Amino acid sequence: MKTINKLSSYKELSSTVADIIEYQIQKEPLSRLVLPTGSTPLGLYEELVNRELDWSSIMTFNLDVYIMNPNHPQSYQTFMKKHFFNKINIYPNRCHFPDRNVEVYEQLLRIDFNTLPDLCILGIGTNGHIAFNEPGSSFDSRTRVVSLSEQTIKDNSRFFDSIEDVPKQAITIGLKTIMGSKKIVLMANGKHKKDILEQAMYGKITEDVPASILQKHDNVEVFYCD
Ligand code: F6R
Repeated sequence: MKTINKLSSYKELSSTVADIIEYQIQKEPLSRLVLPTGSTPLGLYEELVNRELDWSSIMTFNLDVYIMNPNHPQSYQTFMKKHFFNKINIYPNRCHFPDRNVEVYEQLLRIDFNTLPDLCILGIGTNGHIAFNEPGSSFDSRTRVVSLSEQTIKDNSRFFDSIEDVPKQAITIGLKTIMGSKKIVLMANGKHKKDILEQAMYGKITEDVPASILQKHDNVEVFYCD
């Protein structure tokens, strides 16, 4: 069981997680961060941009990408550039996204299995997914191509002109990969996330609720606002 820290506003959620990232990159300028997309971290990225931190030796790894043209306005590569990377002093060649060379991505994440990512920031899907590890994903999963669940396609159709335009497949890091991070922060925003968040943090640890695996990690912080 993990504590769900309830914050008073979306602004506080964003600044609390920004504080954790700021502390990490100042303590360790060579930090390796794993980062999310989606609506939840938008305020976080805005807050980090405003802080004008030094990102010049930071390396980032995104959790997942849709299988689609990376230049598409709704691709996760475009999202990260638009909301974050183009606004900070990070080197583009230090910003990594999963691609079909899934084993190479795993190795990059773990630098030949010796160094683990320092900090992984996660959102949670309404079905309990983290990254695009949908319900039923193995707790031993690594970076791989996945099919998105009907629920995720429906949830994410708000970003597209129509539900038919939502990609059906993605490349995601695995649950085991996520669990390899030294520290994990889970962010959830909105009442519609409350039930699944409580199920994941207080309920049974099961592959039916992928985020429930986080109960087994000894350095996880969970932040929620409604
Ligand atoms: C995105 C990701 C997903 C989202 C989740 C919540 O990179 O890994 O797991 O974090 O689908 O999305 P939002 O924040 O849009 O509710």
